[in-house]
Amino acid sequence: MKYTPITDEIYAYMSATFPAEDDFLRTLKREADEAGFPPIHIAPEQVAFLQMFLKATGAKRVLEIGALAGYSAVGMARALPEGSSLLTLEREPRHADFVRRKVREAGLENIVEVRTGDAAQLLREITVDSLFDFVFIDADKVGYTTYLDLTLPLVRVGGVICGDNTLAWGNIADSASTDKTVQALRNFNAAISTHPQLQACLLPIAEGMTFGVKVG
Ligand code: DHB
Ligand code: MG
Repeated sequence: MKYTPITDEIYAYMSATFPAEDDFLRTLKREADEAGFPPIHIAPEQVAFLQMFLKATGAKRVLEIGALAGYSAVGMARALPEGSSLLTLEREPRHADFVRRKVREAGLENIVEVRTGDAAQLLREITVDSLFDFVFIDADKVGYTTYLDLTLPLVRVGGVICGDNTLAWGNIADSASTDKTVQALRNFNAAISTHPQLQACLLPIAEGMTFGVKVG
């Protein structure tokens, strides 16, 4: 075996040694649960990774597609320096309102903007003074490849596009799958891994995150 399976014990060790979920994020999750949101926030270790990654790359402009309850937006925005911006796109107005409230409570309203609507349409309307450093795609899986195509021109060379859930809950290797989500994630991985303007890799963290850096 070329990898170490993450047992419950190892996972508990990782969470305890590199904690990324504080009371604010725990409360956000609980309130989202109580409000009937699906429990599909990114995992704490993904927050830890994204925060480290954003700091390492000096990211100042971040775009997120799919805010849900704002767990990842708050997590990422906390790692951004003064004067940076995080734009998150959310289809559900009720979810977007929740995120705006959480962003205010977190004191991040100067950094985070939530736009409500269909992501593909919002992406076509975006005009940027400066290109994005990082794009996090975590919305409907069927839209991933479209979001990749629409965001690529909005990202600087050296910037990174990431898609969440790219192991498709263990089904990503199933080439015969008729599941639309699995097919869409396989198409996304194929597109990002072969794109001439991107150099990509799949990180097996949580349900998988695929990263592509824009090289040209
Ligand atoms: C699910 C998880 C996700 O992270 C996501 O973006 C969408 C759905 C899920 O577990 O169903
Ligand atoms: Mg996700």
